[in-house]
Amino acid sequence: MLAGCVPFTAAAQSLPAPNAQLASKELNGRVESLLKKMTLDEKIGQLVQFNGGYATGPGGTNLHNDELAAKGQVGSFLNIVGAEATNHYQHLAIEKSRLHIPILFGQDVIHGHRTTFPVPLAIAASWDPAAAELVAHYGATEARADGIPWVFSPMVDIARDPRWGRIIESNGEDPYLGSAMARAWVKGYQQDDLSKPDSAAVSVKHYAAYGAAIAGRDYNAVDMSEIALRQVYLEPYHAAVEAGAATLMSSFNSINGIPATANRHTLTDILRNEWGFDGFVVSDWGAVAELMNHSIGDGPTVARKALEAGVDMDMEGNLYGTVIADQVRSGKIPESVVSEAVRRILRVKFALGLFEHPYTTPGPAYDATPERRAAARKVAAETLVLLKNDPVEGVGVLLPFTSKAKKVALIGPLADNQRELLGAWAGNGDPKYVVTLRAALQERLGDRLLYAEGCGLLSGEDASVLNHVDFNRPMTADSHEPVPDDAKTIVEAVETAKKADVAILALGEPANWMEGEASSRATLGFTGAQEQLLEAIAATGKPIVLVVLAGRPLELKWAAGHVPAILEAWSPGIEAGHAVADVLFGDVNPSGKLPASLPRAVGQEPLYYAQMPTGRPARVDLSHFPRNAEEKFNSRYMDEDNSALFPFGWGLSYTRFTYAQPTLSRSVVPVAEVLASRGKSVVTVGVDVKNTGGVAGTEVVQLYIRNTAASVEQPVRELKGFARVTLAPGEQKHVEFPLGFDELNFWNAEIKQTVEPTTYKIWAGGSSLAKAETSLQIAE
Ligand code: BGC
Repeated sequence: MLAGCVPFTAAAQSLPAPNAQLASKELNGRVESLLKKMTLDEKIGQLVQFNGGYATGPGGTNLHNDELAAKGQVGSFLNIVGAEATNHYQHLAIEKSRLHIPILFGQDVIHGHRTTFPVPLAIAASWDPAAAELVAHYGATEARADGIPWVFSPMVDIARDPRWGRIIESNGEDPYLGSAMARAWVKGYQQDDLSKPDSAAVSVKHYAAYGAAIAGRDYNAVDMSEIALRQVYLEPYHAAVEAGAATLMSSFNSINGIPATANRHTLTDILRNEWGFDGFVVSDWGAVAELMNHSIGDGPTVARKALEAGVDMDMEGNLYGTVIADQVRSGKIPESVVSEAVRRILRVKFALGLFEHPYTTPGPAYDATPERRAAARKVAAETLVLLKNDPVEGVGVLLPFTSKAKKVALIGPLADNQRELLGAWAGNGDPKYVVTLRAALQERLGDRLLYAEGCGLLSGEDASVLNHVDFNRPMTADSHEPVPDDAKTIVEAVETAKKADVAILALGEPANWMEGEASSRATLGFTGAQEQLLEAIAATGKPIVLVVLAGRPLELKWAAGHVPAILEAWSPGIEAGHAVADVLFGDVNPSGKLPASLPRAVGQEPLYYAQMPTGRPARVDLSHFPRNAEEKFNSRYMDEDNSALFPFGWGLSYTRFTYAQPTLSRSVVPVAEVLASRGKSVVTVGVDVKNTGGVAGTEVVQLYIRNTAASVEQPVRELKGFARVTLAPGEQKHVEFPLGFDELNFWNAEIKQTVEPTTYKIWAGGSSLAKAETSLQIAE
């Protein structure tokens, strides 16, 4: 559907306000009386944001920040950190500018501000919204203490293609899990009250559908049906808005031909008129000016289009500051459009209490205190996913290590690398606080631990890049650095492994150069010579535990076929080593589950479990090369299986869980009743889960449905409920999942959410392969 073609379905005023503070009469009264005093130039000043610190995109050096602040010509700065620096500009704005309007300081706080937690994709792997809420609350508290009341987080873009480096900042592939995490992040940052000293306004990003960039190439176009947009991609943003998100960030990509930063359909028709959003929208870095590269007009035209579509603030683009005023004066842009954008920005400034408390009291210097470390360790241990733990002949399962673990060889370029273990986009986190795997295992094993780096993260001259990773410092003259000799270090690592009883390999990819923004990959294997290192160690015959440290699903096919134990550990943050050791030694029983499918081959991407049906489905058990017409003419690859190597929701434990057949509180429900059940449930699915192993453990119980007869085809499975359940050995619990309109609806061809008479298949289990099944009938 084209931008602007959807009739307004509801007037914003008649919608319940998702954020009561922004809708408050008293607050809006203050906004209106200030707005009346503002000149056009002062209004436009509020729509301008400049970078004042390190650059998080191209360009970004502004030499006139003092002057702009003093004249009231900058509504917001990004990347200015610390009480002293922010107070400097705030004093200029409050004391020198005519109307004394405070500046709003914003920054990226992606997985903690100073205390670095695991990356967001890892936190999604905990399937524990409370963990996201806690991390967000730490982030808000520390950011606010640093003068930053506005965080550019959470990123809630659905990411179904790990070639896209920003999957690391996401909650993975699923809209239900993504929405649950989105709500938790918003709650943790905003604390349901923006004026609290430990809360910060969020900027939910990147609106919209940025994660669906074609071919996984960052900043690329997005092209999808309106149904897929609504049913999959918009869900988490909507959940965040319903949770009270104060601001959103528009994305770089186009959606069906209309750039997201000039897209009235998403920014106004849906966001404001359907969802009732009262906060403001900031563009992404330079995205308004970049609209010229999308070939939709010259500077003044694209600025007008962005503003009229609903982008209120221009981040680091300076187009609003230079080309809007003339267009208002010449009558091309009604001044009311500018005033409306200012109104939305002022609402957030008032709600944050900036008019009452514009300055930040300097506090003690940051330290990673025991309390912060304990929180980071607990969250990180919850995010680890045990992918495989097969018995080794004559040894049994390798994990958890027992006191029997004699000599252990720790090998790999990520075993002792503080900066890389911190993870991509760690903002103000400091690698010096990171406890590496080597340090943590040393604490437990003493001289029973042997160590070898094995190889670099990148090979040859590329390796020197990693010594110079800093967006703000150009890379120069690094060609004189010695080129690492991987062949030699691999031989040394093999010798180290031979002296040990078991080898732990810590492998992955360079977080700080190949993960996150502008870090798309066309291949998904370990980088540099790491695969050779792994194969060389495996050839020694020593049992291997592979610890994968990466912010995206990597291709682990060879490893899965040759290595008995694999632990997905992501980028775990400052307590990396302790958290990994806690799981390896069984102090923590792993409970993480994959938030994104791990492929067998990159050519399967985008790979996700909630596929649409096909008229020629592949036979699931066909693992050989097709040998006849019946096998050939179906929806499959000639050279690879369709299925994931490790599917969505997958994750093992040191104990076993068994599932009884799910039961329903009623098996038939009239459709009219379901249609009337928004926000309510009409039926409950119950399932008994039992710990049948020998140790206590936590299982993420997952509920999937399939709508078998809808007017628009529906995915073969969709997650519609999950719960973390802790069970002692032998213990059984009854877990219940409510289902109503919110879980059972779909978007029909008229772009309306509906439920029709049908049968839903329902499964409960420990992954998207769940087998325990029942069915629910929706009657006429
Ligand atoms: C990123 C955003 C980020 C912004 C400000 C952009 O390059 O896409 O996610 O919030 O920079 O740092």
